[in-house]
Amino acid sequence: MSQHLFLPVVMIVASPIPGAFQDSAISPPTQGEFEDLDCGRPEPSSRIVGGSDAHPGTWPWQVSLHQGGGHICGGSLIAPSWVLSAAHCFVTNGTLEPADEWSVLLGVHSQDGPLDGAHLRSVAAILVPHNYSSVELGADLALLRLASPARLSPWVRPVCLPRASHRFAHGTACWATGWGDVQEADPLPFPWVLQEVELRLLGEAACQCLYSRPGPFNLTFQLLPGMLCAGYPEGRRDTCQGDSGGPLVCEDGGRWFLAGITSFGFGCGRRNRPGVFTAVAPYESWIREHVMGTEPGPAFPSQLQKLQSGPWDPREENCTFAQPECGKTSQPGTWPWEAQVMVPGFRPCYGALVSDSWVLAPASCFLDFPIQQPRTSDSPPRDLEAWRVLLPSHPGEERVARLVPHKNASRDSASDLALLQLRTRVNLTAAPSAVCLPHPEHFFLPGSRCHLARWGRGEPAPGSSAQLEAQLLNSWWCHCLYGRQGESVPPPGEPPRLLCPAYQEEEENDSGWSLLCREEGTWFLAGYRTLSNGCLRPRAFSPLQIHGPWISHVTQGAYLEDQLTWDWGPEGEETENQICPPHTEYGACGLRPKATPAGVLWPWLTEVHVTGNRVCTGILVAPGWVLAATHCILRLGSTTVPYIEVYLGQAGASSLPQGHQVSRSVVSIRLPRHLGLRPPLALLELNSRVEPSPSVLPICLHPGGIPPGASCWVLGWKDSQDRVPVAAAVSILTPRLCRCLYQGILMPGTFCVLYAEGQEDRCEVTSAPPLLCQAEGGLWVLMGMAVRGSQELFAAIDPDATWIAQTVGEAHVLHPSGSPYWPPEDSDLCPQDLAGTASSPKVAAALLLLLLAPQIQG
Ligand code: ARG
Repeated sequence: MSQHLFLPVVMIVASPIPGAFQDSAISPPTQGEFEDLDCGRPEPSSRIVGGSDAHPGTWPWQVSLHQGGGHICGGSLIAPSWVLSAAHCFVTNGTLEPADEWSVLLGVHSQDGPLDGAHLRSVAAILVPHNYSSVELGADLALLRLASPARLSPWVRPVCLPRASHRFAHGTACWATGWGDVQEADPLPFPWVLQEVELRLLGEAACQCLYSRPGPFNLTFQLLPGMLCAGYPEGRRDTCQGDSGGPLVCEDGGRWFLAGITSFGFGCGRRNRPGVFTAVAPYESWIREHVMGTEPGPAFPSQLQKLQSGPWDPREENCTFAQPECGKTSQPGTWPWEAQVMVPGFRPCYGALVSDSWVLAPASCFLDFPIQQPRTSDSPPRDLEAWRVLLPSHPGEERVARLVPHKNASRDSASDLALLQLRTRVNLTAAPSAVCLPHPEHFFLPGSRCHLARWGRGEPAPGSSAQLEAQLLNSWWCHCLYGRQGESVPPPGEPPRLLCPAYQEEEENDSGWSLLCREEGTWFLAGYRTLSNGCLRPRAFSPLQIHGPWISHVTQGAYLEDQLTWDWGPEGEETENQICPPHTEYGACGLRPKATPAGVLWPWLTEVHVTGNRVCTGILVAPGWVLAATHCILRLGSTTVPYIEVYLGQAGASSLPQGHQVSRSVVSIRLPRHLGLRPPLALLELNSRVEPSPSVLPICLHPGGIPPGASCWVLGWKDSQDRVPVAAAVSILTPRLCRCLYQGILMPGTFCVLYAEGQEDRCEVTSAPPLLCQAEGGLWVLMGMAVRGSQELFAAIDPDATWIAQTVGEAHVLHPSGSPYWPPEDSDLCPQDLAGTASSPKVAAALLLLLLAPQIQG
C-alpha cells in the first residue's frame, strides 16, 4: 500500500463534533464541518507485552516521540497541533527538558528505514501539570504543542478525549499500543512494527486490592485518584518500557476515546501487577485550559454507551489473585515438566518444559564440545529431523523445530544451556505443564525446601525420591566456601553466583541434576549442576536466574515468576554486605553455616571414641586429621595403643535430614616432641579423608594470639552421654592475670578463661572441650584444648602450630591478619588481692569477676 498518495490532506479548519465544547467558550461546530474533524475513527481497513503487530492505519493517533534521534515515548494526537503524552517522558530530576530537543513522528507504522507516509513535527512547547513530581504520585501527563499542525490523513487522525463525566465500565476491553519493549528488558525487534494489545479495565478497588499484596520486590502500592489500571490478574499482556505516553483507547459508539496514558507498572506483564495509566477524563479541564484558543482544538464527544457495571464493579473490594500457571505437582518427585529429549543413538537427555513450546536442557547433550573440535562419529546428529521429545502424560512424541544453544555454552561452563523449540505447541494442563523460572532478582531463602531432578544425560535417579530432597544453605556459607577470601557475597536481590543445597550426596555418581525449589507450593527451576566443581561438598549449583532474560527473549513466553516467599525468618533480612573471611591455600575453614531450620551446628566438632567407652572431643583440622587433648586419648600409665573411632558430621540436636554422619578409624596418633613433659595435644590421622560438607569442615588455626575483635567460646557437650553440643561464652584472661591466678601450676602457653555469668557449668570436662574464638567476619579459629580436669585452663595451639602444619599437610593455618590481640598487660605485678590466692582459683576468679565485669559483657 502506498501511503503517501493520500498525504496531501486539506488543513483542518473547523472544530469537532456537535456539543463537544458545550462548557467551553468555543462555539459548537456545525454538522457540515464534522467529517473533516472527526476524532477516534480509524480508516476502516485493513507491544507491548503479549501483543501483536498492528495493521497500518488502525491507530492513526499514535505518535512516536523522538529525542536524540531515537524513539523514547509514545503519544496521542488529540488535535492537529496537540499531542498528549506522559509527563515523566520529559521531566528528569524535577526539570522539564527543552521542547526543541523533541520531535514528533506522525503516521508511522514500522520505525524501520524510510518512513513512508510518515511526517515529522518539531515541538514548540511542552506543558506539564504543576502538581506532577513523579509517576507514582500521579498527574503523569503532558501536552505537546507542535510547531506546525500535523497533516491529517488516513494514517494521521486525532483520538477523542473523554469528558470528566465519562465513565469507562470496568471489564471493558480496550487497546494499548506502542513501540515499547516486548518483555522486560527485551526491546521490540526489527522492523519495529507498532504493537497492539487488548487490555481490560480494572476497577480501582480491584486494582488496589491486587497492589496491596506484596508482589515483585516485596512491594505494595497505593493507587491514587487520576490513575487507572488495565491488564489481567494473570499478567502476560501489558505495556512496557518505551510505551509510556502512548494511548489506552476504548471504543464507545463507534469512536475511540483516549481512556488512559501509559504511565508505569511493576516490571511488565507480571502476575497481579496490571499496568497503571493516567486516567484522561479527570484532566478534561486542565487540557481545555491549555489548548484554549487553538483552532481546531481537541474533541470531547459525549459518551453514548450507558455504563453497565460488570463483574469488575468498583464497589467490589476484594479480588482474586492469580496463581502461577507453572510449577505445580501433586507429588514432588513426579515432575510434569520433565522432558526427555531422544537423539537417535544416545541416552535420553533430560530437560524441563518452560513454556508450551520450549524445552530447556543442557547444551552439552546436543553439541560437540569444545565447539572448535571436529565432529566425532559419536556426536549427536545435527539434523533435528530425527529428534523426539517425550513429555509426561502426553501421548506421542513431539518433534523439534529449532535448537538454540546459549552463546557461552560449553560442557562445564555455568551456561551449559540450550533451548529446544517444539514444532507444535502442547496444551498445558496438569501434565505436561511448565516449570516456573526465577527472575534475576529472585532470592531463594536459606532453608528453602528443594529437590533434585534429572538433568541431562545422567544416570537414573537413586531409588527413593526422599534421597533427592535438599535444603538450601545460607548464601554466605555457600559463597565463602567456594569463593575467595575478601570476596563480597551478593546481597539478596542480586543474582547469586552459586546455590548450595544440602542433600545426600555421599554415594552420588556423576549424574547431572537440576535443582527445583519450592515456594508456597510452586516449584521453580532454581539451578543446575555443571560437572566442574571438584570435591567440595555440598556441590554447588549454577543459578538459573541469571539466564531468565535470555530464556524469555528466546521463548517469548516462558513462565518467569515473582518470588512468592518473603518471610526471612528470625534471622531477619540479610541485607548487609558480607565479605568472605580469610581462606588458606587449602580453601575455606572455620565457616559455620548460620542455623537453618534444620540446624547445622559445629562442622568441625567430632566425637573421638576410645576403647573402653571413653569419648573425647576432637576438632577437625584437615580432611583427614583430628586434633584432641592427649590426656583424654591416652591414659597415663597405659602402655597399649587404644583403638579409636572418630565420628564426624554431628549436626547437633536437630540434625539435617540428610546429615552427613560419617565415621573413620584412626590409623596413627602423633605427638609433638615436648622436652620431658607429656605434650598436651595429639593429632589423630584418619584412615581416609572426609570431604568438606555443611556438617564437616575443618577449623582454622590462627598463630599469634586471639584474632582482633574475636568472641570466644568453650565448645563441649552438655553431658558425655547424649553429647548435645553446647557453647559457653568466655573471656580469655591476660597472661599476667592468668599467671597470678594459677602461679606455679601453669605450663607455658596456657590460656585461662573466665566464663560469662551463668555459663560456667554448661559443659562437662572429661571429654576435654576445645576453646574457640570467632573472629570478625564470622571465621572460627581453634585456640586451645582443655587441660586435664580443668574447666578454665586450656593448652594453647600456638606453641605447636608449626608441628601441626608440618604433620598435617592441609591444616588451615591463617596468616595473622592485622595485629593479633592479646589482652593488654598493664604491669608485671599481680593485683594485690590475688597475690595470695593462687591456691584457690575459684576465689580469685570471683575477685576477677569484679575487676573485669565490664569486659565480660558483650
Ligand atoms: N514507564 C514506562 C515507560 O517509560 C512504561 C511502563 C509501563 N509498564 C507497565 N508494566 N505497564 O515507557
